[in-house]
Amino acid sequence: MDFKSKVALVTGAANGIGRATALGFAGYGAKVVLVDRDGSGAAAVAGAIKQQGGEAISVQADVTKSADVANYVKAAIDAYGRIDCFHNNAGVEGSVKPIHEYDEEVYDQLMSVNVKGVFLGLKNVIPFMIKQRSGAIVNTASIAGLMGSPNMSPYVASKHAVIGFTKAVSGEVAGYGIRVNAVCPGPVDTRMIHSVTEQVSPGDAAGAAERYKGAIPLGRFSTADEIANMVHFLCSDLASGITGAQFAVDGGRTATAGAVTVVGKG
Ligand SMILES: NC(=O)c1ccc[n+]([C@@H]2O[C@H](COP(=O)([O-])OP(=O)(O)OC[C@H]3O[C@@H](n4cnc5c(N)ncnc54)[C@H](O)[C@@H]3O)[C@@H](O)[C@H]2O)c1
Repeated sequence: MDFKSKVALVTGAANGIGRATALGFAGYGAKVVLVDRDGSGAAAVAGAIKQQGGEAISVQADVTKSADVANYVKAAIDAYGRIDCFHNNAGVEGSVKPIHEYDEEVYDQLMSVNVKGVFLGLKNVIPFMIKQRSGAIVNTASIAGLMGSPNMSPYVASKHAVIGFTKAVSGEVAGYGIRVNAVCPGPVDTRMIHSVTEQVSPGDAAGAAERYKGAIPLGRFSTADEIANMVHFLCSDLASGITGAQFAVDGGRTATAGAVTVVGKG
């Protein structure tokens, strides 16, 4: 895993999975561009990277706004001249409600971040990768892009859309030496899953978390670093033959969905 002389751009880099990916890229020697609407959070992660002797800049941007997206790409090119790896990751969870109770404004905001944000990232980064005739992109989908999760239908639809973009765009850009894949995390120990479990069981998020964990063969939430490991692999030359694919990092959740457990977990 060697990213020396490579430039990695990460959205949603102030927290959770994006933060872990950005710190990891820096640890492997990449110059990192950290993008988040939480500008001070992104700046703090960039500061931590620089303190450890790495190179990083942060850019405050809302991924739903085309001017902001054009600006974060320009900032990366102005600072480092290229973009080798792009983790198109920023996302929100929306509400936990059945569709007939789902608020239209929450739906619009969720689709705007999770789908339009991914679209704008691809649209603005890819022209530079085409010029370079190389690049590796990982879109953050979810196991909600592989299966239905009742009471989160807009989130599920948005993550199926991310996988759709991954498959279609991979075919458009393969001829330029650009690979596009998706990572599909199961529940990960970040702010987002705690928001979901609190919405599932207000006042008893811990109980909801235990029920989630009960459906995961490994019996626990993944860590942000475990998702980042997959992102780094897919962006590395070790994955040179992989494009248009999606990879679950979910402790076995999707492999056993709906299965009746007849053997104990040990
Ligand atoms: N945590 C999980 O259980 C889980 C599971 C599957 C998929 N995911 C996906 O992983 C990705 C990262 O989520 P996380 O768990 O790290 O959550 P998080 O809330 O910890 O981090 C998300 C980051 O994205 C940023 N962000 C949100 N909207 C933005 C916008 N419009 N413009 C710029 N930045 C924005 C936030 O400020 C935050 O720093 C998301 O796409 C999420 O859907 C998370």
